[in-house]
Amino acid sequence: MIRVLFVCLGNICRSPTAEGVFTTLVQRAGLGDAIAIDSAGTGAWHVGKAPDQRAQDAARARGIDLSVQRARQLQKSDFIEFDYLLAMDESNLTELLQRAPAPCPSAIALFLDYAPGTGYREVPDPYYGDGDGFETVLDLVTEASVGLLKQLRERHKLP
Ligand code: 4NP
Repeated sequence: MIRVLFVCLGNICRSPTAEGVFTTLVQRAGLGDAIAIDSAGTGAWHVGKAPDQRAQDAARARGIDLSVQRARQLQKSDFIEFDYLLAMDESNLTELLQRAPAPCPSAIALFLDYAPGTGYREVPDPYYGDGDGFETVLDLVTEASVGLLKQLRERHKLP
């Protein structure tokens, strides 16, 4: 089993969207038994809450259901239990690298490293912006999900 954890600040906008989009892609590829997917926030403000309604609505319009997700905070065991910890922005990445045990068995990176064609290195935080931000999140996260699945297939010799 390959374990992937998406990480943002609040775990109510970007990383739940990444979890939903990547889960849908993996299930459609028939790889649901080979890849386990979760998300977490570096902060604790929204723990226990469902994803932001705007994120849910934007995802639902693309056939992706985020409603069952609940926010949780990143914990120490995540660095042991997950093979890939993928940050939405540089600040999340810095937090991950600071909190990681040494040596750290997991791969820690920016999620958009898997979407080199977008011109973005970070998924912009849509929380305080207008509704368009959530469409941008979906676009970027979809492209990175396709890139991530392709690389996991190659690296781990998945069908
Ligand atoms: P997320 O967005 O990190 O993509 O879940 C945010 C959610 C909440 C806050 C900031 C960003 N906040 O400040 O409460």
